Amino acid sequence: MATIQETRTAIPGHVPAELVWDHDYDEFAAEKADPFRRVGELHGGPDILWVRGLNNGPQGRRPGWLPTRHALIREVLTDTDNFLSGGDAGMMSVIGADWKLIPLELNPPQQQQYRKVLEPFFSPASINALDDAVRSACDELIDEFAGRDGCEFAGEFAEKFPSHIFLDLMGMPRGKLADFLTWERGMLRPERPEQAVEAMSAIADYLQEFIAGQKQAPKSDLMKGIVSARFNDERPLTDTEMLSICYILYIGGLDTVYSTLGWIVWYLAQDIALQDRLRDNPEEITRAVEELLRAFSTASTQRRVRQDMEFHGVTMRAGDIVQVSLPLAARDPEAYEDPHRVDIDRPVRHIAFGTGPHTCLGLRLAKREIRIVLEAMLARFRNIRIAAGESHEFHTGNVFGIDRLPLEWDRIETAA
Ligand code: HEM
Repeated sequence: MATIQETRTAIPGHVPAELVWDHDYDEFAAEKADPFRRVGELHGGPDILWVRGLNNGPQGRRPGWLPTRHALIREVLTDTDNFLSGGDAGMMSVIGADWKLIPLELNPPQQQQYRKVLEPFFSPASINALDDAVRSACDELIDEFAGRDGCEFAGEFAEKFPSHIFLDLMGMPRGKLADFLTWERGMLRPERPEQAVEAMSAIADYLQEFIAGQKQAPKSDLMKGIVSARFNDERPLTDTEMLSICYILYIGGLDTVYSTLGWIVWYLAQDIALQDRLRDNPEEITRAVEELLRAFSTASTQRRVRQDMEFHGVTMRAGDIVQVSLPLAARDPEAYEDPHRVDIDRPVRHIAFGTGPHTCLGLRLAKREIRIVLEAMLARFRNIRIAAGESHEFHTGNVFGIDRLPLEWDRIETAA
């Protein structure tokens, strides 16, 4: 690790000394059992920090700007004239690919042209049509441990659930589930770094083969839409564009859903009164999901400064990295009274799914998935709690994720 002196000499000339925070953001967040509360401690300092270590995807760790306030984070996400998505090399460069993730790593207006193709498949009506599939994937997984008095929720449920949903969304054969679970585990919890790269390559290979088949006979509304889409109403999508879109639809809902579910269930396991309230009043679950998403906004993203400029009195240079931390936005006391308290009665407007042109395309699906999981868990189990003598394990990074969540509960016997 660099000494303070070494780090200071590496600070670019346009960064004022009083904004330098000589820490690694992810290491700092991981120092306490609750990374959300931990990063909330930064609200006692400047509204914009220059941080020594930020997660920069395939490029490793880099220094950059960290706005700490909800209002500034919202501004970065909506100001696409000054803050750009996608770095020099896209995320897929780790497997040697030269294409970027569509639409995530592109910028308006091109990014919006691609979104137009995809949006109909994430409309309220399209998500309603997936309801039964989401419910049966959820029930199937819960059935595997419902006869026991507990489970390891991260590994036995949260990790598996997104792959089930993806197969249904795309119209992929159920027989592919075992491969997807292996790839998912390789990406999310690799035992060695190469395992993540191998898994990412295997997914790309399979998606390529799948798309080739779908061009002849698409198996889902989504794939029908993708293979027959016309970019800008002019030309069909190329094979690489289709691959890129399918890839982001898989990884966009993987780590995020897994981790958000993990933190939400971790919280509920410590709030039996809320469990009882929601079990007795299931119509409140939709509202509770919004507040839980607010409190456990797990994702962060990045932007690059497009040109030299002033941002709220801070000089930023073209190419500077800006870390957009949604956990920080979620716990800002200037945006939410008593931000660390989960209060399902508060009026909630959150940016757990980002905001602006890149707002999560899958947000309706994600909310539906979380609601269905809570309904199913609460209907089957009472007094869900962290298993005696155990505790959770987690990691920080671009998604704050739960690696292990040992639970126990009292089973609710249902009439046969
Ligand atoms: C709780 C679950 C989820 C969370 C917290 C989440 C969070 C986010 C965030 C913060 C962004 C914006 C990134 C940026 O501005 O750079 C985003 C974008 C995106 N998400 Fe999600 N997401 C979730 C679930 C999903 C699901 C289930 C899907 C797909 C089925 C999905 C697909 C996408 C796509 C395609 C984008 C890129 C949109 C664009 O660039 O126009 N997400 N997500």
